Amino acid sequence: MAFVPDEIIDRFRKHFQSAVTPSFYRAPGRVNLIGEHTDYNLGYVFPIALDMACYIAIAPASHGKLRMYSRDFEKEASLPVSEIAAAKPSQQWSDYVFGVAQELTKAGFSIAPCDMYIASEVPTGSGLSSSAALEIVTAVALLGGREYPKVELAKLGQRAESQFVGMPCGIMDQYAAVFGHAGAALKIDCRSLGHEYVELPSNVRIIAVNSLVKHELGTSAYRERVAECAQAVAALQELDPKIESLRDVSLEFFGRVQESVPLVPRRRARHIISDTQRVVDLAAASRAHDLSEMGRLFVASHRSMQYDYEISCEEIDFMVDTAIKIPGVYGSRMTGGGFGGCTVNLVAPEAVDTFRQQLSAAYNERYKMTPAFYDCKPAEGAGPLNVG
Ligand code: GLA
Repeated sequence: MAFVPDEIIDRFRKHFQSAVTPSFYRAPGRVNLIGEHTDYNLGYVFPIALDMACYIAIAPASHGKLRMYSRDFEKEASLPVSEIAAAKPSQQWSDYVFGVAQELTKAGFSIAPCDMYIASEVPTGSGLSSSAALEIVTAVALLGGREYPKVELAKLGQRAESQFVGMPCGIMDQYAAVFGHAGAALKIDCRSLGHEYVELPSNVRIIAVNSLVKHELGTSAYRERVAECAQAVAALQELDPKIESLRDVSLEFFGRVQESVPLVPRRRARHIISDTQRVVDLAAASRAHDLSEMGRLFVASHRSMQYDYEISCEEIDFMVDTAIKIPGVYGSRMTGGGFGGCTVNLVAPEAVDTFRQQLSAAYNERYKMTPAFYDCKPAEGAGPLNVG
């Protein structure tokens, strides 16, 4: 459920003991439908921006600082604006904000002292991109209406995360937060950084299910995967010097030459090359309203992450295996970086209640936890919200 702007403004005033009317901005989380870890291999991804978003109420201040309060962490943080350019990360939530402020400074924008009240509906650690939502809403709030090309905004958010926060991510999450579109999925070409909107069939619901687990392999395993993909590229370049990334490798070519790639990078490459193809296939199936093909691609993608990319975990596999046995479920797969977080499921509208009950009961019995369910409706990308 969306925040009522007036409520946030009220909280802003109470927290900062101020009577001003702040400006108000929003950036959404995302759920990726297919194409996982393909972004930093310059392939395709296929996310939708969510109606769950991160919000910032912001107003100029005279204390010389970038000062902010996070409702979700119940913490305040501040930094003199004169120190933004030289700031160093502190492994706190505020790194996302300071990283963006630093990148904006590098891009030539001055940052004026201000107060920011931050509140998010995107659950953290869920694979639904709460960090990109925070980065992008920070960027639009600090820009405050100053012109900046949208694609540059996405790239700036990505740089803040990879260079300041230290997570070597691809572009998907920030791009979805910027370019999201109500009623459609985004097929993003991570090489050209162009996209097309793809309508989704209306007779299906997209349900994300939060396993509530996040195994702490996160950043180190992500880094490892990035390195293993680079090893696969290096081996394939020996055969064809024109190959610059796994995007350049067709399934057919890979099938012929895969023995020349060492075993682990070979399995990683097989996932990336096949999942990039699955994005193309899912977009086509979506346009053709072919739900059983969409479901088949979901499950194939999950198996590929489970066995070849090795980024799933027991709880998530249990959720996928349980979900696909429930009548009316077309497909299920993990979404996001991996090692926990959410699955995304394609469910017939009339089967949603049974799906929730059965999956919830089974997960509860096995893991003594009740998963959270989110009905995912494609929403607009970041921007200002009118208040009052
Ligand atoms: C994280 C990263 C993205 C992408 C996904 C996996 O969300 O931030 O860039 O690599 O993992 O698809």
